[in-house]
Amino acid sequence: MSYNRVIETLLERRSVRSYRPEQVSEEELADILHAAKYAPTARGLQARHFTVIQNKQFLAEIAAAATGNENDSPFYHAPTVIVLSAPQEAKYGREDCACAIMNIMLAAEALGIGTCYICSALDALRSDKILSRLKLPEGYVPYGSVAVGYAKEHAAPPKERCTDDISYIQ
Ligand SMILES: Cc1cc2nc3c(=O)[nH]c(=O)nc-3n(C[C@H](O)[C@H](O)[C@H](O)COP(=O)(O)O)c2cc1C
Repeated sequence: MSYNRVIETLLERRSVRSYRPEQVSEEELADILHAAKYAPTARGLQARHFTVIQNKQFLAEIAAAATGNENDSPFYHAPTVIVLSAPQEAKYGREDCACAIMNIMLAAEALGIGTCYICSALDALRSDKILSRLKLPEGYVPYGSVAVGYAKEHAAPPKERCTDDISYIQ
């Protein structure tokens, strides 16, 4: 079956859990972030912040805070990690961050770059030791992160999709 190319991108994106060490280019990263800024936000407030981390030492420190071992990366050693944060009191901060992460993953897929949505590092990202170094606006907290880099190998094919999860009311 042939699909519209945007829908094809949606269907082809898979979580990547093994990355090549080389960094994504500045141009590609700029395009990905530009696309992310066009994700919807509650009331159009754009109240979310992107922290792009490419510093290997800092990524190792976050890994150590998350897993107790700086070689055991919750980001699968991706060369870039983008942390999404929103104001703690924002009613829909989590949703705003999730929408931005989805745009990041789809824009990256369209450019041939792998990603994985990562929530397992949230406690570490919110810890005093790490939070103060994320360059966040006052009162912002991390709600999600996404690993970004070139895939080392093809991701596994998608699981069968459920067939009983749509109800129509006509
Ligand atoms: C909110 C959320 C949190 C996730 N957190 C993690 C995570 O911490 N680590 C991880 O490896 N994958 C994480 N994932 C990725 C899912 O495991 C993945 O999307 C799912 O298994 C389906 O695979 P696919 O993305 O290849 O379609 C997360 C996905 C979502 C939506």
